[in-house]
Amino acid sequence: MSFISSDFRTLLMSRHLFVTTALPYANGPLHIGHMMEYIQADIWVRFMRMQGHRVHWMGADDAHGAPIMIAAEKAGQTPEAFVRAVAATRSRYLQGFSISIDHWHSTDSPENTALAQDIYRKLKAAGFIAARTIEQFYDPVKGMFLPDRYIKGTCPKCGAEDQYGDSCEACGAVYAPTELVRPRSTLSGAAPELRQSEHFFFRLSDPQCVAFLREWTASGALQPEVLAKAQEWLGKEGESDRLADWDISRDAPYFGIPIPDAPGKFFYVWLDAPIGYLASLKAYFDGGKARANGEDRSFEAFLAAPDTEQIHFIGKDIVYFHVLFWPAMLRFSGYKVPNRVNVHGFIQLRGEKMSKSRGTGLDPLRYLELGMHPDWLRYYIAAKLNANVEDFDFIPEDFIARVNADLVGKFVNLASRAAGFVAKRFEGRLAERFDLAGEAMLGQIAAAADEIAALYEAREFGKAVRRIMELADAANQYVDQRAPWVLAKDPARARELHEVVTTSLEAFRRLALLLAPVMPTVTREAGRLLDAQMDAWSRLTDALPPGHAIAPYSHLLSRVEERQIDALFGIAAAPAAPPTAQSAPKTTAPAKAMSDDRSPGTITIDDFAKVDLRIARIVAAERVEGSTKLLKLTLDLAETNDEGKPRLRTVFSGIQSAYAPEALVGQLTVVVANLAPRKMKFGVSEGMVLAASETSEDNRIYLLSPDEGALPGMKIS
Ligand code: 2FM
Ligand code: ZN
Repeated sequence: MSFISSDFRTLLMSRHLFVTTALPYANGPLHIGHMMEYIQADIWVRFMRMQGHRVHWMGADDAHGAPIMIAAEKAGQTPEAFVRAVAATRSRYLQGFSISIDHWHSTDSPENTALAQDIYRKLKAAGFIAARTIEQFYDPVKGMFLPDRYIKGTCPKCGAEDQYGDSCEACGAVYAPTELVRPRSTLSGAAPELRQSEHFFFRLSDPQCVAFLREWTASGALQPEVLAKAQEWLGKEGESDRLADWDISRDAPYFGIPIPDAPGKFFYVWLDAPIGYLASLKAYFDGGKARANGEDRSFEAFLAAPDTEQIHFIGKDIVYFHVLFWPAMLRFSGYKVPNRVNVHGFIQLRGEKMSKSRGTGLDPLRYLELGMHPDWLRYYIAAKLNANVEDFDFIPEDFIARVNADLVGKFVNLASRAAGFVAKRFEGRLAERFDLAGEAMLGQIAAAADEIAALYEAREFGKAVRRIMELADAANQYVDQRAPWVLAKDPARARELHEVVTTSLEAFRRLALLLAPVMPTVTREAGRLLDAQMDAWSRLTDALPPGHAIAPYSHLLSRVEERQIDALFGIAAAPAAPPTAQSAPKTTAPAKAMSDDRSPGTITIDDFAKVDLRIARIVAAERVEGSTKLLKLTLDLAETNDEGKPRLRTVFSGIQSAYAPEALVGQLTVVVANLAPRKMKFGVSEGMVLAASETSEDNRIYLLSPDEGALPGMKIS
């Protein structure tokens, strides 16, 4: 017997997580790449919170740097006013996609100024800052030193004109801006002059830095492929000169944080950007939000505590800054170093980089304005994500199929079908007990919770949602097998019906909890429908109580329409369809002889032996919503699953035109049992039933059935 309550135990094991996502430049709206990162982090954060861990997730705008200064000037605004206006647009995106960031700040803030200057002073006192005079291009008209991207000229290698100061787009050569032929400033058109200036460098090449980075990068903070990259940058033991010192200063005019005791010098934007993570955290503490979120310690105490885990989510393009400069800066200024840097790849559209200018982008605000559900996108992104640094594709057809088949077809349908019966037949109250025949399925969902939790924690979201959809399949198979719509016709079976729909709703509740990190809006609605708490993973074991009253069903989630996708990607409405079968005379191909081109030619007995043909009983059949051809068949092949429980298969078959589903239930037929499962728009088909027809377009389809005496599972040879 334990005297420790489970709440107390949770508290004891509760982790303290300081989470960040990359700070977007404050010079434009957020794009799908930002939203993908926020959604990834949000799923992880919500999952950790459901586990009882305390998470403090910080965001901010990355406000400094030459490009923002120049953009503000073009807009006729001060840089401060310019970045404030951009910052004001952020909450629409964050709220719109249910991103649960705890505090949003700016790197152009007193907290960031104080922290950046403090870190710099400490680095300087520890001997990690060096001053060196460098030569750089200067625009005499604008009166400023020019970043490489504002210098263009003729490539010194191939002679291509109009190339940037650091590399040639024509031949790929990389060079210093001073090597360009006929260089010019893109800001004024003037020929730049070479001028000298004193710059400050962070001494990354210091052997202490290199030794620390070798140790830190191998400490478990990085994914294997990121570690490999970092080790490549660090070079082999003994090759201490692999890392170059980092130029951290810029000359006025510059929109940035002044460097202490160095008039006219500012920190380079990439020095103060990650410090913005700490600045946001400080403002969150100082403003009382941390306390409201259950954290009583001061900012300094929290940040220094050994049990505080500092976790960054970033894209693969900014790894160098986060796995070399950032930890080294923190370490040698006496701050806590990151515990973990989670790197993700990019989201692409059909294999191509999304580009707004080419009109191939998925604009997050347009998505919301079109009334598209945020949980659709969250689910799709979750289904595509894993823990590696891989790009993934947004494929519109795949998006439609997954949302409609998985979320609407398998998940939400469980609730809508069952809740209707509860309202109409049982005055909104659940049965006193679950259906015995559904206990195994409910147990299966509960038993998978730990495995799914481990997948969430490891950021294997694609695997997690696939596993959840397998459980949804099992729940649907249960419903199809128990066929409440059949029970409903027989008043004598009312109690059975009540228990079956109660069991379906409990299955739905469990699945909704498992999906809660991914789909916060739908989960909240599910909680309202079931009058159940959906806030903690431990709620999985709080089954709906006997006789529990639920709310009347209101629509939880609709299907994605193709026209919404067309509107999202700016595709004009399809032109009116050309004359179809209804208006044009129908030409039916004449029946062909056996030797027609549908015959694959001769095969050997070994070829034939590869096909596992079995007898199956059709235990349920139904029309597939949205398809004029398919019937969804539930088949019994006398198989069992790993736990020895009966296993049924789902097979989609194009026989709707020839058979009424009711007429098929109970019949025996022939199935190709070892056909690879096929993901269809409406679900996964696990085999194929055999039917005869003259042509593939023919309505006259004849399902094969065995002679009397055959039993499910028998092999056909
Ligand atoms: O690459 C970018 O968009 C940067 N603004 C990210 C900064 S992340 C952090 F260091 F602030
Ligand atoms: Zn070139």
